[in-house]
Amino acid sequence: MPSVNLFGWKGKLLLSTLLLSAVIFDLAYCEKDPQGQRKAKPRKTKPGKSTTKGPRAVTAKTKATPAAQGQTFITQVLNKGKFKKVGETVTVQTGDTLELRCRGKPVQWSVPSYLEEEDEGRLGIVQHERYGALTLVNTTGADTGEYTCYPMLCEDTDCRKEYNKAVKVFVFFPDPRELFVPSSEYYEVIQLRTNWPTVLPCQVTSPDAKVTLHREYPPVEVAVDGREISFNVMKGFTIHRPRPHHAGALYCMASLGNLRQSSTKYMLIYVNYPMAPPAPVIQASSTSLAVGENLRVSCSVLGEQDVVVEFSWEYPGQQIGRPQYTQESVSPVGGGAARQQSQSVLLVDEVRDVDQGTYTCTAQNLQGAKSVSTTVKVVPKSKPKKP
Ligand SMILES: *[C@@H]1O[C@H](CO)[C@@H](O)[C@H](O)[C@H]1NC(C)=O
Repeated sequence: MPSVNLFGWKGKLLLSTLLLSAVIFDLAYCEKDPQGQRKAKPRKTKPGKSTTKGPRAVTAKTKATPAAQGQTFITQVLNKGKFKKVGETVTVQTGDTLELRCRGKPVQWSVPSYLEEEDEGRLGIVQHERYGALTLVNTTGADTGEYTCYPMLCEDTDCRKEYNKAVKVFVFFPDPRELFVPSSEYYEVIQLRTNWPTVLPCQVTSPDAKVTLHREYPPVEVAVDGREISFNVMKGFTIHRPRPHHAGALYCMASLGNLRQSSTKYMLIYVNYPMAPPAPVIQASSTSLAVGENLRVSCSVLGEQDVVVEFSWEYPGQQIGRPQYTQESVSPVGGGAARQQSQSVLLVDEVRDVDQGTYTCTAQNLQGAKSVSTTVKVVPKSKPKKP
């Protein structure tokens, strides 16, 4: 991949020069025409969340784009027409202007959700002939985050994002006073689900800050071994396979130079979380009964230990108001893996004709629900044999 040439047309000097002129012309033209400026409309999202939301629609109407071929990339516009192709991260001094360009006709941008909510006119997004430009002025540490460009594939006015061609850059705005991207919450509750990676999103404004993880009580530094728990300067800490002992109040601590600050507090709550929806198995004591006999339909689920399964039933007698008698139980299952069997048994005493039909059991856990059915036939009482 070319690293110096503008837009990577290495060697095609004449072409580059021509295009560069076109780009400069575009820019000059647009500066004189503020109508071309598309101001960012903040998306209505709940305050206080710092996760990156989906991109906002900022699309200019253009025709089909056979030109949107080849690899997409973002360039940063530096002072006086200098361009730099960005890598994974970019650091911009707070107060300076961030200016990014992304080739495509048109493109959509997604920005940190904090910026989407803001409406101070600091963010400007303009679609030019060959590229989209994003400009952010009067930057602060809070602007730190991921900036993504999605090239759009358009047919007439119908556009869709080309997700596989999306390019992103993480922009740091080191703030001399705020080592962490400010959060409006004093603490954040995070659910730890069994074996589901969980992120503590303490985001630093400078890639050079040293970040550690701490438990409030007892006050200890949490070991970050890179496997059970890892740190990424663009994301925060990830607990890869949460277990009950990870629960509690945690916070991050960042230090840079003489500055040392702690992040928002994270209240980690452990939830036994199933890997998948339940897979119930239904069985009737008999598929064909004589009037007056007792019926027993069992529905059982083999699942992870301490994962709650809820059962519900549908049965023919419901229509005539036959009450539901169920017995529910949970029993451990032998063997190495921590598993248990949850069971619900529906009891129908002295079946009648109306009890003939389909019996459906629905088992539900935090991941979803699944229903299984069986049919039961009721036959007339067999005539008692003469002695
Ligand atoms: C940026 O900051 C300057 C100087 O404080 C101010 O005059 C200007 O209005 C600000 N621009 C925006 C869009 O906030």
